Amino acid sequence: MSEKYYLTTPIYYPSGKYHIGTAYTEILADSIKKYKQLRGYDTFLLTGSDEHGQKIETKAKENGKNPQEYVDEMAKMAKELWDKMEIDYDDFIRTTEPRHERIVQKIFDKLMEQGDIYKGEYEGWYCIPCESYFTKTQLVDGKCPDCGREVKLMREESYFFNMKKYAPRLLEYYETHPDFIKPDYRKTEMINNFLKPGLEDLCVTRTSFDWGIKVLKDPKHVIYVWLDALTNYITALGYMETNDELFKKYWPADLHIVGKDIARFHLIYWPIFLMALDLTLPKQIFVHNWIMMKDGKMSKSVGNVIYPETLINRYGLDAVKYILLRDMPSSTDEVFSPEGFVERFNTDLCNDLGNLLNRTIAMCNKYFEGKVPEYNGTPNNVDIEIEEFAKDVTDKFANEFENFEIANSLAEIWSLVSRTNKYIDETSPWVLSKEEKKEELESSIYHLIENLRRIAILISPFMKNTSENIFRQLGITNNNLKTWESLNKYDQIKETKVIQKGEPLFMRLDAEEEISYIKNEMGK
Ligand code: ME8
Ligand code: MG
Repeated sequence: MSEKYYLTTPIYYPSGKYHIGTAYTEILADSIKKYKQLRGYDTFLLTGSDEHGQKIETKAKENGKNPQEYVDEMAKMAKELWDKMEIDYDDFIRTTEPRHERIVQKIFDKLMEQGDIYKGEYEGWYCIPCESYFTKTQLVDGKCPDCGREVKLMREESYFFNMKKYAPRLLEYYETHPDFIKPDYRKTEMINNFLKPGLEDLCVTRTSFDWGIKVLKDPKHVIYVWLDALTNYITALGYMETNDELFKKYWPADLHIVGKDIARFHLIYWPIFLMALDLTLPKQIFVHNWIMMKDGKMSKSVGNVIYPETLINRYGLDAVKYILLRDMPSSTDEVFSPEGFVERFNTDLCNDLGNLLNRTIAMCNKYFEGKVPEYNGTPNNVDIEIEEFAKDVTDKFANEFENFEIANSLAEIWSLVSRTNKYIDETSPWVLSKEEKKEELESSIYHLIENLRRIAILISPFMKNTSENIFRQLGITNNNLKTWESLNKYDQIKETKVIQKGEPLFMRLDAEEEISYIKNEMGK
């Protein structure tokens, strides 16, 4: 039986069309899922939508809809986008579903019964868009420290969760589980900004609006949207249900993927809720950075938003996935630029990868009528070197990827692409042909095909279609040649025939034209 791997994305607010930033989380998650599948895991990817709270209630009103109508439409839109992006999720949970709501109520009751939730009175500065209370000292120039918008002084009778009690246990957990949070600096941030100064008890109910899950025993109180939302990771698996097979099989999560803005909720509140429920904590939480624009955050009012559909329709899904992943550093935000996008497309995809395939197919046809020569050992040092390079790249790729250094991991694959292009010049098959060095010529073409096969395997988690296209053009149909295990050996391809004429993987873009196309779309 294969080992399980349960990974989740955040559940998204249905507050509008998703832009490439939101899509990034999903692309990343889907790539990690596909990588784990390639490595033989039994994977389960959860996504969904976060449909309660005052913000959504207000949004619906603005759109002239009742909240349920509004979130129904938005959930449909989200699924259409994930389909278009070929996101292979296993479940899509909506927090308005009964399967979620009734368990959240049960969880709340349980926490109340055991004394972790108690009744009190709350006064604080509330930011409606962020659904967060702040103390006066936390405000920045009297405004929300997270988004900079106006806050309102509010007082309400509320229930509180006893965070203080669990803070020392959480700190200890951080210290004894060095792989819990990736990258490391996010852990330091949590310790310095929240745990060291001391956690306040968290207000976990609201009475100022209606659109949310009611406390069963005190229904004028609506459960705080973050307590509601975070539990999706377990309600989706049937926690506390009679049929909790999935929960038994998949919990604890192997990985929660979250953007940096919601790190605090996942790295502090969520583990504490789990401790209170006496559940095992997730094995890892990975915090990714943001896609920014030259002029700051993507926002409709600034007119700098890019939607994934815009890029996918014009440049294809695989190119978009590759470029977004390739340019996101783990240490800082990515600044998206149309120039950078077009440059990556032309350089990495057309010139480097596309040409490598084309030249290889052309030469295999020219010298061997398309029949891939069989592996005949390593006639010279150049061949030994390229074999070692290729095997090395596999390890380096896996290391970087598993450390969530995704951009670096893709760079590793492209180092193999470049190295293989260089190998063409080093071996110069046209010279070998002229000089009738048959054995070396066979070896050169074999190594080119083999490296392309390896590249096709390595890119398959995030460029599925391109990967399949490469296999097809190389004439590789045997599924054993598409597995991770097949990367252990270099001499595997047998009785293979490439297609008669190579087809370009990517068509070169007219840089000027495409840069202005993307810029023009940004305002829309
Ligand atoms: O936060 N670049 O939902 P959400 C990269 N409902 N990632 C970005 C981004 C950008 N420019 N903008 C947003 C919520 N994201 C909650 C989650 S989970 C229990 C509840 C990411 O729709 C953001 O960091 O506001 C987050 O991971 C995801 O999109 C959803 O954001
Ligand atoms: Mg957000």
